[in-house]
Amino acid sequence: MSRTRTALLAALALIAASAGTAVAVVPSDTALAAVPCTVDYKVQNQWDTGFTAAVTVTNNSAAKSSWAVKWSYAGNQKVTGGWNAKITQSGTAVTAANETYNATLGAGGSVSFGFNGTYSGTNAVPATFTLDGVTCNVDPTDPTDPTDPTDPTDPTGPGAKVDNPYSGAKVYVNPEWSAKAAAEPGGSRVSNQPTGVWLDRIAAIDGVGGGMGLRDHLDAALQQKGSNEEVVQLVIYDLPGRDCAALASNGELGPTDIDKYKSQFIDPIAAILSDSKYSSLRIVTTIEIDSLPNLVTNTGSRATATPQCDTMLANGNYVKGVGYALAKLGAIPNVYNYIDAGHHGWLGWDDNFAPSATLFHQAATSEGATVDDVQGFITNTANYSALKENNFTVNDTVGGTSVRQSKWVDWNRYVDEQSYAQAFRSQLVSAGFNSTIGMLIDTSRNGWGGSARPTGPGATTSVDTYVDGGRYDRRIHIGNWCNQSGAGLGERPQAAPAAGIDAYVWMKPPGESDGSSTAIANDEGKGFDRMCDPTYTGNARNGNNMSGALPNAPLSGHWFSAQFQQLMQNAYPPLG
Ligand code: GLC
Repeated sequence: MSRTRTALLAALALIAASAGTAVAVVPSDTALAAVPCTVDYKVQNQWDTGFTAAVTVTNNSAAKSSWAVKWSYAGNQKVTGGWNAKITQSGTAVTAANETYNATLGAGGSVSFGFNGTYSGTNAVPATFTLDGVTCNVDPTDPTDPTDPTDPTDPTGPGAKVDNPYSGAKVYVNPEWSAKAAAEPGGSRVSNQPTGVWLDRIAAIDGVGGGMGLRDHLDAALQQKGSNEEVVQLVIYDLPGRDCAALASNGELGPTDIDKYKSQFIDPIAAILSDSKYSSLRIVTTIEIDSLPNLVTNTGSRATATPQCDTMLANGNYVKGVGYALAKLGAIPNVYNYIDAGHHGWLGWDDNFAPSATLFHQAATSEGATVDDVQGFITNTANYSALKENNFTVNDTVGGTSVRQSKWVDWNRYVDEQSYAQAFRSQLVSAGFNSTIGMLIDTSRNGWGGSARPTGPGATTSVDTYVDGGRYDRRIHIGNWCNQSGAGLGERPQAAPAAGIDAYVWMKPPGESDGSSTAIANDEGKGFDRMCDPTYTGNARNGNNMSGALPNAPLSGHWFSAQFQQLMQNAYPPLG
């Protein structure tokens, strides 16, 4: 993680938005269980006079031994032939009934079929679907359900995804992380917490060094799920030229390896996630941390620019990679994409805030992606920014001077993560994202408890004494990001903790290093970043301050026992 305020964004890579396919996947504001069935109707391909559509039906009611789905076209569409269902049409009314081999549709089960059709004029997605006479995609108990197609205020139409996947759901506990945490003295206090599963290289899909691969995690999640709803949290992290403003998490793909990223990383992940075996899981993806923020803050004429980020801006491969990942993964009915949105100490400055939202929208409308592929955004991933600073606000003044002029705040518009996440959410909606988007905040390591935690506001001698004496975030500089000394575990993972926030999550698994303190040879593509060296005196991205990193750290992603112990020691809320 890095940050800068300096000069305005010089130039954005302008990637033409390619025409997306029509998709009727829409968040609902109600728990899935209250919706009797969902129908996801996608126009997969469309030309002058014809189209191909794919339909997935999910039955949330009692198991069925036969089924029929019905809809009506508003236009002149005619089904010419289908597969995996017997499809008949009378006038505008279409019926798709089961074949003998897919007649059984269990409670919570899904079935998919497809067809070709002709049309002229527009080829709108039907507004209403029924399954055996029951209207799908609508909660009959909720008169304000925004997915109700009969509601003229509904901007988006019917769909299958729930508004907040964390609501009413358990979250997957990664057994590999859990075992490492439990093996630490005192670790059993947190080892049952859910953490992110990082797909940080192609080999992680099958499992690195005999460890669990993606299918192993999903199978384990099905076991943990039982009859509940279950969220699985994946981090999609292998862009070409990864980590362009730092070295610790450089990856395996070179700056131009976009085709490899698509065909060897995203496509195989999408193939696994689309397996109907996993359709009952709510799969949350964190899309490519740090990448788009780096294009805004660490490029062009800014003092913080790096040649590597300039390259990734110029070749467009971050934008293309993110767009492709969103489109491929977003097409899967039970996948919820959350794009990484930095943190307040990175994008909270005016020079960065609106340009970032604009760039995110550009990425989310490239490579076939649309804003409907975006469930929301995640902030503070693997960072240390405090959730709420209670001892001062951005509006406070000391002797007539704004806290924004303090050295710590340095003209930022936000002093903590939650206020930033909520404000950035609004900015993203203004930039063109759906008003239903929700935010996640990574609270894995932003607790800042322990004996150094201030108990009240700082002295009002100056804005600096006031802010520095009161702030929970004890970092030397807010641009510091590697293995921070003094940090603690933050809020425990929880759903819907505040307005606009879908969940607090532990996306970064606590105890996994951010980077090595000295150079360590490795075959993971990881470099040595001196921001992880406690003797380093800094660079433009941390205002040339000491790094604040813990000593003796292993490679990024590797287990760092001393850090885990410190995180438990300084947890806030404290551990019981
Ligand atoms: C860092 C590492 C990555 C690891 C992740 C989670 O980003 O580069 O390999 O999976 O942290 O600990």
